[in-house]
Amino acid sequence: MKVLSVVGARPQFVKLAPVAHALRETDHEHVIVHTGQHYDSRLSDVFFADLKIPEPDVNLGVGSGSHGVQTGAILSAMDPVLEEHRPDWVLVYGDTNSTLAGALSAVKMHLPVAHLEAGLRSRNRRMPEEHNRVLTDHAADLLLAPTRLAMDNLAAEGLAERSVLVGDVMTDVLYAVRDAVAAQPPRLPDGVDADGPFLVCTIHRAENTDDADRLAAIVTALAGLPMPVVLLAHPRLVARARDFGIELARGAIHPAQPLPYPEMVATVLRSRGVVTDSGGLQKEAFLLGVPCTTLRTETEWPETLEGGWNVLAPDLVGLAEIVNRPRPEPLDTAPYGDGTAARAVVAALERHAR
Ligand code: UD1
Repeated sequence: MKVLSVVGARPQFVKLAPVAHALRETDHEHVIVHTGQHYDSRLSDVFFADLKIPEPDVNLGVGSGSHGVQTGAILSAMDPVLEEHRPDWVLVYGDTNSTLAGALSAVKMHLPVAHLEAGLRSRNRRMPEEHNRVLTDHAADLLLAPTRLAMDNLAAEGLAERSVLVGDVMTDVLYAVRDAVAAQPPRLPDGVDADGPFLVCTIHRAENTDDADRLAAIVTALAGLPMPVVLLAHPRLVARARDFGIELARGAIHPAQPLPYPEMVATVLRSRGVVTDSGGLQKEAFLLGVPCTTLRTETEWPETLEGGWNVLAPDLVGLAEIVNRPRPEPLDTAPYGDGTAARAVVAALERHAR
């Protein structure tokens, strides 16, 4: 069996890692296509190196652009790659423009498509990721769902027959890295004491970064928090803050560069809490037993809300009290699986190959 993975953005490299390792344990051929959506070393190369992912076989080098330009560039660059490789499966990951373009180009060439992390829904039609998820799920032949709720969402859209519950591959990679970095100190900017309480923060969603008033309100709220906020600033946040004349380094905020995955895990593990609008980080905090506060109106990972481990705080009201809330009671559920999802992915691909 020949599997061709299409990835392009930081969270997809994390999901690719366990799948690439599981495929390496088999005789199957695995071709990795990097669209080039993320090209900064800190958002791309370090993930391949740290997570021991084989170098991409192909890099489409599309770079940044508006949604249409970026999606279209990937789409047109994919045709010759798919023509050359003619895989048994085109495997697309998550919800970025690279996901949708990879799925669409495969469908147009009558190649079977599998969508890893199928069935997530925010029901927020303003999010580019929501369009990408819905359209990819309805285009794909095999829907690899991470959770029971995702399976329910797919069934509600008439997609039950194409859906398989495989578990969450992010749990696989997170547990492996957590154990490897157990003794590693957090990577903190100057002025933040590793022995004192601190928060880890990321903000990169268009709905939070691309409106000047919204971004200013978020930065003001973070600056006023009662402990240091380590703000791991995505290039999009840095660019928008600069465009809008918003100073990030003020009050409690200590801006820093995005971290490589193992250092991110080590730093979150020792933090008092996470404040974010990232889907992946909400779930990583939950799995690491660190309280999370999410600056959005909804989450694709509602399981994280159980027991107050994740709290939605879109209007920023009372943010200081929310991030300072007592640590929730441990849960005895494991909605994201036990860290063996990647093998289930490979087994599902084998079972459903034409
Ligand atoms: C994309 C995904 C989002 C995912 C995120 C993870 C879409 C629609 N969004 O958002 O779902 O959560 O990746 O990070 O696909 N930039 C750089 N260097 C890079 C890449 C981007 O500086 O290597 C800057 C550029 O100014 C670019 C901006 O970041 O215009 C946005 O990048 P883009 O890939 O369009 O979306 P993300 O915000 O990264």
